[in-house]
Amino acid sequence: MNILLIGLGNVAHGLLTILQEKSDELSKRYGFTPSIVGVATRSRGTIYHPEGIPISELLNITRKGDFREIENVRYDLDVLSLIQQPDVQVIIETSPSNFETGQPALDYCYAALNACKHVVTVNKGPLVVDYAGLQQRANEVGCGFYFEGTVMSGTPSLRLALEALRGAKITRVRGILNGTTNYILTQMENGMTYGDALSLAQDQGYAEADPTDDVEGWDAAGKLAILAAALFGTKLKISDMKVSGINGITSTNVQSAQQADERWKLIAEATPVSASVRLMRLPVSDPLSGVSGAVNAVTYTTDLMGDVTLIGAGAGRVPTGFAILSDLLAIHQRFKS
Ligand code: HSE
Repeated sequence: MNILLIGLGNVAHGLLTILQEKSDELSKRYGFTPSIVGVATRSRGTIYHPEGIPISELLNITRKGDFREIENVRYDLDVLSLIQQPDVQVIIETSPSNFETGQPALDYCYAALNACKHVVTVNKGPLVVDYAGLQQRANEVGCGFYFEGTVMSGTPSLRLALEALRGAKITRVRGILNGTTNYILTQMENGMTYGDALSLAQDQGYAEADPTDDVEGWDAAGKLAILAAALFGTKLKISDMKVSGINGITSTNVQSAQQADERWKLIAEATPVSASVRLMRLPVSDPLSGVSGAVNAVTYTTDLMGDVTLIGAGAGRVPTGFAILSDLLAIHQRFKS
């Protein structure tokens, strides 16, 4: 499988590490032998080699290094030209999410689908802006369009709802969908300041490039919009949702909740006709109050199964890298000839 990687930050680092460490296992167990033929970033340009660029060399330059450290590759192609290269079969979008325009990732997703290339995106922007249009285009061209990592990283929140719960009607979704804010709230319960906890979340690779999206609730709102589109077919703009974040919470607020056997949690909730993200004080008896650190949780309320809850990693390099791997394997399985 020949892959073009768009974005070379934390998530790409997680994916490349997994591909390197599991190379033998992926080949033996699934017959899956990926090759990274191109990389595109906004600030560092592009590199391309149709026979593949060694993952060990890419790992040396993720996040910061200079592309010129990699020799015998082309540096002259722009992203849209790279997408059109006949050797490229799959594009992976890992660049930062823009919730207003979805760009430039939205154009890249359409360019890839129009050229019959499969798309894996962990970038939420394109889906928040145009979920229905992208799905329709992917169906028209018969290509894979996969986005498990956009909600709860590699914890299979979308596959659970769309595949495992197929046949049941989901009437409500409710959960903790942002790892950074849950991590900050947990660290503040352990006595850390808001600022120190946010810095740690950034160091761990949980936070968005601009952590304002995390702490003001927009990242959770983006994920909720994707869930609402996937589950209910809702065309929900995040600007139309009631959204609040955790900015403004103080150590005193956190401690007074603890003294009352309660915890603050940023809760995202949607039904077919409503959606909101808000900070709530939950009793410690509520299952969501026990979800700590960068862990996320989602509860689907269904007609046939009652409540079904999934808890797992919600952010981070390896969990999000795993989300991409699971989508790549789904493409490999579905389209292998
Ligand atoms: N910034 C996001 C979070 C990353 O903290 O949950 C995963 O989408």
